[in-house]
Amino acid sequence: MAERLVLPGPASEDLGKSIAAKMGLAVMKSEFRVFSDGESKFTLGESVAGKSVFLVQSTYPPVDQHMFQLLLASHILSQDGAKVTAVVPYLGYARQDKEFLPGEGITLGLIAHLMRSVGVRRLATVDIHSAEGLSLFSFPAYSVSGIPSLVDAVRALHLKDSVVVSPDIGGSKRTEAFAQLYGAPFFRLTKTRDRQSGAVKIKQETLDVKGKDAILVDDVITTGGTIIASSEALLKQGARKVVVACSHGLFVGGALEGLEAAGVKTIICTNTVPSKYSKVDITDTLVSHLGTIEE
Ligand code: R5P
Repeated sequence: MAERLVLPGPASEDLGKSIAAKMGLAVMKSEFRVFSDGESKFTLGESVAGKSVFLVQSTYPPVDQHMFQLLLASHILSQDGAKVTAVVPYLGYARQDKEFLPGEGITLGLIAHLMRSVGVRRLATVDIHSAEGLSLFSFPAYSVSGIPSLVDAVRALHLKDSVVVSPDIGGSKRTEAFAQLYGAPFFRLTKTRDRQSGAVKIKQETLDVKGKDAILVDDVITTGGTIIASSEALLKQGARKVVVACSHGLFVGGALEGLEAAGVKTIICTNTVPSKYSKVDITDTLVSHLGTIEE
């Protein structure tokens, strides 16, 4: 087996170092810089010819900068002869995996193409928005599940008489998996999103949540619109409180204020995106997958 190294990108320094420590691998010598005009630069600090490199770089906002740093590093690593596995804990652009309106691009397909062209041989991510997105990659691409770790974290809250709720049909599979592991009833809300304005609406319907603790599960919180509308609907129907378990907490703009105003009591995210809500460490989950890769 080739010598293996870990390269923590600037967006995932802590997670990358933690993966290296857990796998007993060295952190690669290198330097990332961002110039005052916003250009990125990557410099190898050692030869990587014939070595296998786990390049750990999440692509949360600024998404394009983090994505470009990933592509740039992979390009230089593979030019030097490394076999690159892109470990992208939060995969930006994963929601652009199909044409929703005529003329829209399938941007995740472009990301897959760019990754391949800069020498990425494998992709490992966490809770990709939709498993279908993985089929856009022409090399092995795998999404590990952060759900078991989120379940453990929510269990520690000792909620009583809980229900597990998906805000929409798209999140049903992952939320059902959560409900099964957690051992509580599952149901889903019906969400519609205006594809032009992005505004979210939850269908008014009678929900069996009176006096219960509702656990909303989602892959990503961006503006908070989905969880805000869902929380309001659940509380309106008499839920005792709303707790949110989410893989990737981006919290753009006034998301956190909106979530608080909508009555959300607790937010638990994984550390694919750093924030004060990233209480669930995903290192072991990623390491158990990366440990199975043989180059
Ligand atoms: C949508 O299908 C996703 O699973 C998320 O629910 C959504 O993208 C979250 O975005 P926002 O927080 O802006 O509603």
